[in-house]
Amino acid sequence: MIPEDLIKKAREAQKRAKAMYSDYAVGAALLTTDNQVILGCNIESKAYPTTICAERVAIFSAISQGYTKFKAIAVVTKDGGMPCGSCRQIIHEYSNGIPIYVSDQNENFKTFNISSLLPHPFG
Ligand code: THU
Repeated sequence: MIPEDLIKKAREAQKRAKAMYSDYAVGAALLTTDNQVILGCNIESKAYPTTICAERVAIFSAISQGYTKFKAIAVVTKDGGMPCGSCRQIIHEYSNGIPIYVSDQNENFKTFNISSLLPHPFG
């Protein structure tokens, strides 16, 4: 699957975001090694810190469905915002160096790897 197709899937997930407090909808699409696409969106809570990011929803959802090996992850926001520190840690621990496509709303995207985003990881 080409990056643009995975990014499109992430945009679908972005539409499901519950981002009523930040007004910052994030969508993630995780491609498994057997070519399943697992989606995630950010889900905010009235108790603000219990909010969870789109990337971690996608990764945790995939793992809980039995998918543990991944090929790529796409993340979409309105402005091409980068994954937060918590998500970087989880990507590092569970995704084994996959490319990370970070896209804005117009599918302008950049590709990163986790070692550049989290150079001295815990663990
Ligand atoms: N957010 C994500 O979904 N992923 C990130 O990597 C950074 C932040 C969400 C959390 C919150 O719902 C909103 O974006 C604003 O911080």
